[in-house]
Amino acid sequence: MMRVSMSARQIARTSSVLVLAAGIILSANAQTGTPAAREAIEVRKSVFTLIAANFQPVGNVLKSNQYDAAEVQKSLARLKFLSEEAAEAFPPVSNIGEPETKAKPDIWANRAEFDKKLSDFQTHVTQLAQVNETEKGPTSAFKTAAGLVGQDCKGCHDSFKAK
Ligand code: HEC
Repeated sequence: MMRVSMSARQIARTSSVLVLAAGIILSANAQTGTPAAREAIEVRKSVFTLIAANFQPVGNVLKSNQYDAAEVQKSLARLKFLSEEAAEAFPPVSNIGEPETKAKPDIWANRAEFDKKLSDFQTHVTQLAQVNETEKGPTSAFKTAAGLVGQDCKGCHDSFKAK
């Protein structure tokens, strides 16, 4: 005759294995999308850290009239690249809110408005680079163009970045 009953110990052992397996599956599920989100957010923060670092030589002109030609030119070339990179740094998977990211859910709810801010930022960075090519100094034309970029940072943060 086949033995179908399990001892209490066998049941306990089997169920603890099942609980463990369920726990592994659950924690795997809890992370679904999360590694991709985390990676996208890490890339995004790095892009903005570099944007801030490369805006510094321009900010120095606005703040204290310090114009380092070589630094400004190098930074503007990088800002052009980085402003394009920023446009790709907001995949929907990364819309997970705080504390992981300060990117507000409004970005994805008002994507057209957000994309407009990104494209204005790109346009103003490109214009500043062009103005710098002809001005080659901390002129009022340079400062006007630089001011527009600075306003883009603030304008976007005010609307779409958590404090
Ligand atoms: C179109 C919108 C937009 C523009 C333009 C923009 N930012 Fe941001 N920035 C954001 C958002 C959204 C975040 C939050 C990113 C996150 O936490 O995932 C951010 C984050 C940052 C951070 C923090 C990065 C970190 O490590 O958490 C810095 C610094 C920054 N921005 C500087 C700037 C500067 C300087 C400019 C202008 C030269 C600028 N940003 C332009 C939207 C923008």
